[in-house]
Amino acid sequence: MLKPSLLILAGDGIGPEVMEQVKRVISWFEERRGLAFDVSEALLGGSSFDVHGTPLTDDVMQQADQADAVLLGAVGGPAYDDLDFSVKPERGLLRLRKEMDLYANLRPAQCFDALADHSTLKREIVAGLDILIVRELTSGVYFGEPRGIIEDNEGGRIGINTQRYTSGEIQRVARSAFELARRRNNRVCSMDKANVMESGVLWREEVDAIHAREYPDVELSHMYADNGAMQLVRNPRQFDVIVTDNLFGDILSDCAAMLTGSLGMLPSASLGAATESGRPKALYEPVHGSAPDIAGQGLANPSACLLSFAMALRYSFDQGQEAERLEQAVEAVLAKGIRTRDLFQGADNEMHSSTEGMGDAVIAALEQSL
Ligand code: IPM
Ligand code: MG
Repeated sequence: MLKPSLLILAGDGIGPEVMEQVKRVISWFEERRGLAFDVSEALLGGSSFDVHGTPLTDDVMQQADQADAVLLGAVGGPAYDDLDFSVKPERGLLRLRKEMDLYANLRPAQCFDALADHSTLKREIVAGLDILIVRELTSGVYFGEPRGIIEDNEGGRIGINTQRYTSGEIQRVARSAFELARRRNNRVCSMDKANVMESGVLWREEVDAIHAREYPDVELSHMYADNGAMQLVRNPRQFDVIVTDNLFGDILSDCAAMLTGSLGMLPSASLGAATESGRPKALYEPVHGSAPDIAGQGLANPSACLLSFAMALRYSFDQGQEAERLEQAVEAVLAKGIRTRDLFQGADNEMHSSTEGMGDAVIAALEQSL
């Protein structure tokens, strides 16, 4: 049988070091579970700019488009802050999302019991939290035209971005959210700013229409996104699936991440429509960024990247049980008190760990699971 292909784009900052641990785990699954992948690696972001003068070459774009799944570390860093917008590391990531048409970005925020005291919120607010943010990823203000910085007649400047959504773009991400809700607790909360934005009015109408026509069995509610941000920190467990646009989803998912104790814990999957193979086009990445302040020091938490690979096992390779095995291994390591710096509080039962030490512990936990 042909091995499914996996393209690794480790990227910048802490990307390569967290990805190193994922590569070890991929090898473990190959050796111990017989899951073989055809793994290749390429440059993305600043590391690609350094070599090729562009954050994403056409060649790598094509490799990503043809891969069964793409695993990404992180992009960006202060060295690239002054670059022209068109070649910033982030443009590479945005081009991947757009050209692969990865419109549904799944960002699950789960609070493992071992970390309930690590959130900035009280344990009783976050313990047992398990929500899923479905963020629209290929449209909205991130891509809307016109955009740019232009001069006005008085010698001043005007910065322009456009929030734009078509019915079709809203419908397809709404469907993803309803489908996912059916496999969870069957509730969707849609967040928009229909009180001030026409695009929000359309968003709400289209979500309502899809709901009435195709998913009447799912419980649907609507919330203004600002209230949503407040509710996420007031009582996050009221939510099951949240569906929202690209910009609100970017902001709300960082907010949700902190509920879990650390941004270093949050994985994500970006999925497109199913291809001929039956698999969706897919890219998996931790929600955290490149964290340049700690890069290269072995301090980064590889959990989010490991959990992103678990999502790949589930959504691209139909290996739900193996995904759970990996998720449980990460949870078991945390339950033992093994902590990278982002999670280390110095309590008696805690052991400080490097990035690699965390990888060692996860592999040991995987071995134990057999
Ligand atoms: C994210 C990031 C990206 C975004 C950046 C790196 C372009 O913040 O994935 O949440 O804004 O979408
Ligand atoms: Mg973000």
